[in-house]
Amino acid sequence: MRKIVIAGNWKMFKTRSESEDFLRGFLPHLEETPSEREVVLCPPFTDLSVMSKYLHGSLIQLGAQNVHWEENGAYTGEIAAPMLTEIGVRYVIVGHSERRQYFGETDATVNLRLKAAQKHGLIPILCVGETKQQRDAGETEKLITTQLEKDLVDIDQNNLVIAYEPIWAIGTGDTCESKEANRVIGLIRSQLTNPNVSIQYGGSVKPNNIDEIMAQPEIDGALVGGASLEADSFARIVNYQ
Ligand code: G3H
Repeated sequence: MRKIVIAGNWKMFKTRSESEDFLRGFLPHLEETPSEREVVLCPPFTDLSVMSKYLHGSLIQLGAQNVHWEENGAYTGEIAAPMLTEIGVRYVIVGHSERRQYFGETDATVNLRLKAAQKHGLIPILCVGETKQQRDAGETEKLITTQLEKDLVDIDQNNLVIAYEPIWAIGTGDTCESKEANRVIGLIRSQLTNPNVSIQYGGSVKPNNIDEIMAQPEIDGALVGGASLEADSFARIVNYQ
C-alpha cells in the first residue's frame, strides 16, 4: 500500500517563536485530517527541538532539511543523523535542488546522505527533477533516470519517499500540469524495484491546485514550500478533497 505523505519544507524561514505561532494556528485543523495521511513539517534545524515537544502525541511527523553522512566529526556547520533521531525527527529531505544548486550537492553525496539517514532509522525524502533548460531540450526522462540510478545505489526502497520537483516549478507559481507530473511520476515508479514507494509532487503546490494534483493516480502526496508557511494555507492542503 502506498502511503499519502504531505510535507511542508519551510526552507530558511521561521524563527523558533514563529514556528510556535504556526503550530498554534495549524494543529486545530488536523482534527479534520484523515488519519491515514502522513503530515510532515520540515522546519530549520533550530526549530526542531521545540516543535518536537509541541508535536509529541500529535499526528504530525517532524522532518529535517538535510543530514550529514558521518555520525559525528569535524564537519563545521553540519548535522548528523543521531542528533536528529534523539529529538524525535522521523523524516529528512535529501538532495533538494537548492542544495544541489547552491551547496555543491552531487549524486554521490546524496547517496551517502540517503544511506546515513536509513542506517539511523530516518525516512529520506529524495528530491529529483529537471531544470527548464533540460525540459526544453527533451532531457527530462534522461536526467531523472540518471539521478535515480546514481542516488539509489544500495538504498533500501522500503524506507524511502521520492519527491518529483521540476526545478522550473519551484517558487515560481508555474505549476507542472498535473497530468504531466503524473506521467513523470509514473516513469519514476517504473524505475523502482519496490512499487509501494510513495512519490510526491513538489513545485508551486497551493490550496487551489492540491485537489487536482492529488486526484492523479500516480501522485502520493506533495512537498510544499511557500504554501506551507501559513497555517491556514497548509491546513487546506493537508485536508485536500
Ligand atoms: O521543497 C519544496 C519545493 O521546493 C517547492 O517549493 O512550493 O515554494 O514551489 P514551492
